[in-house]
Amino acid sequence: GGESLEFEIRPNPAPVSAAERAALLANPGFGRVFTDHMVTIRYAEGKGWYDARVEARAPIPMDPATAVLHYAQEIFEGLKAYRVDDGLTMFRPDANARRFRESARRMAMPELPEQVFIDSLAALVEIDREWVPDDPDGSLYLRPFMFASEVFLGVKPSSEYLYLVIASPVGPYFKGGAVAPVTVWVSTDYTRAAPGGTGAAKCGGNYATSLVAQAEGIEHGCEQVVFLDAVERRYVDELGGMNVFFVFDDGSLVTPPLTGTILPGITRDAVIALAGEQGHEVREELYSFDQWRADAASGRLREVFACGTAAVLTPVGTVRSADGEFVIGDGGTGEVTSRLRRTLVDIQRGRVADTHGWVRRL
Ligand code: COI
Repeated sequence: GGESLEFEIRPNPAPVSAAERAALLANPGFGRVFTDHMVTIRYAEGKGWYDARVEARAPIPMDPATAVLHYAQEIFEGLKAYRVDDGLTMFRPDANARRFRESARRMAMPELPEQVFIDSLAALVEIDREWVPDDPDGSLYLRPFMFASEVFLGVKPSSEYLYLVIASPVGPYFKGGAVAPVTVWVSTDYTRAAPGGTGAAKCGGNYATSLVAQAEGIEHGCEQVVFLDAVERRYVDELGGMNVFFVFDDGSLVTPPLTGTILPGITRDAVIALAGEQGHEVREELYSFDQWRADAASGRLREVFACGTAAVLTPVGTVRSADGEFVIGDGGTGEVTSRLRRTLVDIQRGRVADTHGWVRRL
């Protein structure tokens, strides 16, 4: 969609002071600190997209009968803006724009034109540019989202929507830092998405269903949950909020295929491309939990890593389930994971040439 909209800019009359902002940026954590502005665009059936604004970040008062609060018609995206030597960049915003449209279609929502999506991100980063961290592990996490805003309790696609973008300066997603290996919990009681369901859409509901399994993982000392497929309860699908890769002793990589039950990660896609360029064979194929355990025991499996916008590439050191636990390699960070992570981050941060056209300058 090449359609575009004019954004009305209404600067926040009371932005956070420079001193307070510096204090917040010193240790932002993940998703707790927010910038001074947000984007809002409205949609109404018969009228289309209208009232595109960049305005002060503020609560959005809602009628208690607003449809999203009842039937969860909601989608979102996540991507990052980076401070590079001579300016600001975003990583693959066109890929997020496309996936946002695909999620909208699955959730019976209107498709925001890709150019409007990209322009909305650029407008927010532009006005909140001082909030982009310059720390080597920091970035400005952008969170576009859209929800059913019609006030109506009938179960049907809403006739009105609100699209917003908020921004949050972030450090590493996991408490242990950017490269410390995590322990994962393989859930055998809960599944995330069934064939024909919403697993490939980035909708809030997918994350809501992950929480009870994630909580079980946390009780067992794990940082993330691993979901198995909903039909056979055998094959690895994905983690609570990230995709997963397996690295073998012959240098090949395996990651679960995009069969409709897992999120088509943009980091996943980048890793497949980069691993291929680094001489690794990458297979998108089903991989069972039993095989995973056996390959870890035999030593054929050398490394496992999680990947996503928030997680970047995070090594998995230990795998736990109701049956016990096993360790991947020596439980540390593997060489292949480290090299792929470094290559990806160097591209994202403008330290090496972007031969893929992934980096969008602002
Ligand atoms: C992301 O990686 O951007 C996500 O949306 C997943 C969530 C764990 C923050």
